[in-house]
Parts: sequence; structure tokens; C-alpha cells
Amino acid sequence: MVRIGMSFKRTALRIDISPNWQHGCNSIGEWFADDTTGESMPKIPVPDENVQKETLLSDIDKILYALSEFDWVSPGGSLPDIAGISKAWHPFLNVISTIKRDIDNLIVIRNQRLSELSECNIREETLQRQMTSTLIDSQRSHDIVEKEAQRNITLSRLIVDTQKETLFALSEIIETRSRETANHIRRVAEYSALLGKLHGLNDREQQYILHASPMHDAGKIAIPDAILNKPGKLTDEEFEQMKEHSIIGWNMLHGGKQEIMAHAAIIAYQHHEKWNGRGYPNKLSGEAIHLYGRIVALADVFDALGSDRCYKKAWPLEKVLDLIHKESGEHFDPSLVEVFFNNLSEFLIIRERYPDALS
Ligand SMILES: [Fe+2]
Ligand SMILES: [Fe+2]
Repeated sequence: MVRIGMSFKRTALRIDISPNWQHGCNSIGEWFADDTTGESMPKIPVPDENVQKETLLSDIDKILYALSEFDWVSPGGSLPDIAGISKAWHPFLNVISTIKRDIDNLIVIRNQRLSELSECNIREETLQRQMTSTLIDSQRSHDIVEKEAQRNITLSRLIVDTQKETLFALSEIIETRSRETANHIRRVAEYSALLGKLHGLNDREQQYILHASPMHDAGKIAIPDAILNKPGKLTDEEFEQMKEHSIIGWNMLHGGKQEIMAHAAIIAYQHHEKWNGRGYPNKLSGEAIHLYGRIVALADVFDALGSDRCYKKAWPLEKVLDLIHKESGEHFDPSLVEVFFNNLSEFLIIRERYPDALS
């Protein structure tokens, strides 16, 4: 028995190599208990002298094929005892060198494969590490972005709240100065938001106009009390001075980057423009007037005519509605007048909800 090492795998036993081996052995190896260690060892077959070299060579090819297929040269395992094999295979010494060469080649090929496999594993592990790292980075980035978004939302809310508070405080000052009732501001805001909704503005835009419209007369803060609270009709000169409040309001409010403030500036500037181009300060007409300006123009006049002022008594509702009807396409955007009348009951509910204490 010639031992060829510990590296044969049991699977090699399943390979049927040739019926020409000595001892009737017809497989590449059979397991025998080792005489000294009791370990199971493969037996290398010894060729029959009567076997032709050609047949042997054919069998060797099969052996080499089987060895390569079943991975018998394992890393760290023993190599075949070539010397032992050559002794047993004495009649075929000239073949042994071929066997040795082929086995050497197999080892080289095997080692190359192992090396490639190892590199593949390393590459795969590296790739997995990179993917894991990328996923972690991605999650971190996502978390950072989410936190940043949350922070921005919080900041945005803070800014919007600050704008609302600022506008509310400013509108209260203006109300006090012009002696208009607080509820005039509230009604105009509600009417404007309702008109915006009926015109098709989204919730966000309705909120803009709700909070920006109270500033429509912000410029009146700079108008002298004698004109602002004059108990009677203004002279032409006084009226010209009063008209300045739209430009003053624009100058006070525009230039900021915040949307509510920007819309408040537009409303202050354009709420006295008329659809027919005969308003002030720029004689804009039609849709050249910002929608918010057109909306607040209608809301403001509807409320002002129906309220007591220092220079006049409140008009009856019918007279107010008549005037609005007549001014459709003149003072007011006709499409807004149309939705106003189509939904008049809703405007009257607002009117009743915020009555003037003085009226
Ligand atoms: Fe005004
Ligand atoms: Fe007003």
C-alpha cells in the first residue's frame, strides 16, 4: 500500500476509473484502515504489468481529471508521495515524470484558482463593507436631511408666526390711528380669504391673503391725523395726500423675502387700483392688478360702505350691493363680483360674526 497523503476527499471514491487496476481495484481509491494509526487512508492503485502504456496513460488522464474535479489538493494538505508511487510503479518509470509534471501543473492551477477565489472573496467582502458603509452613510445623510427639514419647518413656522404677530401688531396701531374698528380689519381679512377660496386659491394662498390683507392701509400710519380723521369730505389736496398711503404702505412692507410680508406689500400698493384703470397709484387695469389687490379692493369697499366712518354713516346693505353690482367691470374684477353674489350668504355670515360695536 502506498500512501499518498491526507488530502484525498471521500468523494473521490465515487469515481470509477478503470477495470485494469491490480487487486481488482476499480476505483481511484478505496479507504483502508491505516496499519499504524488506524486512520482511513486512500489506497493508490498499482498498475498491472500487462497493462499497455497507452491504456495506463488513458487511466492516468482519468485519475488527473478525477483529482482536479474533486479538489484533492487542498490547501495545507500533503502532496502525493511521488517517490512511493514511483517505486510501486517501477515498470512505468518513464510515465511517472509525466504524472509528476501533470500533478505539479494541477497544483499550480489549483493554487491559482484558490488565489483567485481568495481575491474574489476579498473583493466581495470589500464590496459588502463598502455597501454597508454606503448604506450607513446614506441612512446618516437621510437622518441629517430629515433633521434639517424638521428644523427648517420649525424655523419656517417661527418665521410665519413672527410675521403674523408683526402684521397683527402693526394693523392694531393703524386701526388706532385711523379710528377704524378692529373688526373692519378682521372682516376684510375674512372676506378676502373667502373670495380667494371661491376664486380657486389653495389653502396656502388663502392663508397668505388672510394674514396679509389686514395691512392694506398700513401706509395710513404716515398720514396726518387732520386728514385721516377729518369729519367730512377731503379737499382735492387732502385726497391727493391720502392717496399716498398706498405708496407709503408699499415702501414700508416690500423688500422682505418673507411671503406674507411680500403679499402684504402688494396689497397695500394695489388695493385702490381699479379694474377699468382709473384707480391709483399706478392706474393699473384688469389682470395687470395682482389678484390679491383686486380681491382686497372688493372686500375693503364692501365693508367700508356698510360701516360708519368719521366722514359718513353706514350704507344700507341693499345700497352697498347695488354699488358693487354697478361697479362690476369698472372698479371691481367682474369674476370676483360674480362669485361674491353667488355666495353672498357666506359674506353676510362673516359680517354678522364681527359686528361693529359703534354701529
Ligand atoms: Fe386704503
Ligand atoms: Fe380698509
